[in-house]
Amino acid sequence: MYTRRLDLPDHVRKHAIRLLQSRLADSLDLEAQLKQAHWTVRGLNFYQLHKLFDALHDQVEEHVDTLAERITALGGIPDGRVQTTARTTSLYEYALETRTGEQHLKAVAAALAEFAKLLREDIDKAAEIGEADTADVFTEISRAVDKQLWFVEAHLADD
Ligand SMILES: [Fe+2]
Repeated sequence: MYTRRLDLPDHVRKHAIRLLQSRLADSLDLEAQLKQAHWTVRGLNFYQLHKLFDALHDQVEEHVDTLAERITALGGIPDGRVQTTARTTSLYEYALETRTGEQHLKAVAAALAEFAKLLREDIDKAAEIGEADTADVFTEISRAVDKQLWFVEAHLADD
C-alpha cells in the first residue's frame, strides 16, 4: 500500500479501493458501449445521436479518470486492463446487432440506469466505512450519470 502518510486505516482504504475498482470496470465498459453506439447508430436522427453518444462517452471518460485516480490516491493500483474489465464489469454485454436510434437509446439508457443504481449503493457503502471522500466521488459521478440518463430518456417517447 502506497501513500503511507494518508491518515486512513488500511482496512478502510482497502474496502474503498474494492468499491472504486468495481465501478472503474463498469465505467470502462460503459465508455466502450457509448463508442459502439456512436459508431453504429443508423436512421433519421443519425447525426444528432452520433454526437450525443460521443458527448456521453467523453463525460464517462472523465468518470473513469476520477475513479482510477481516487484508487491511486488511496494507495492502490487501479486495474484498467481490458481483460479485467471484460471479466468483472457489472453491465450487460452490448448487443452487436443494435442499430436504430431507438434501440441504441434503450440499450444506453439501460446501461446508464444500472451504473447509476450501483453508484448510489456505493455512496452508502463508502459512507458506512467512514470514507467520505470516496462517497463524494461516487456522489459526483452519480449526479452526472442521472443527468446523462435524463438526456437519453428524453429522446424516448415510450414513457
Ligand atoms: Fe467519432
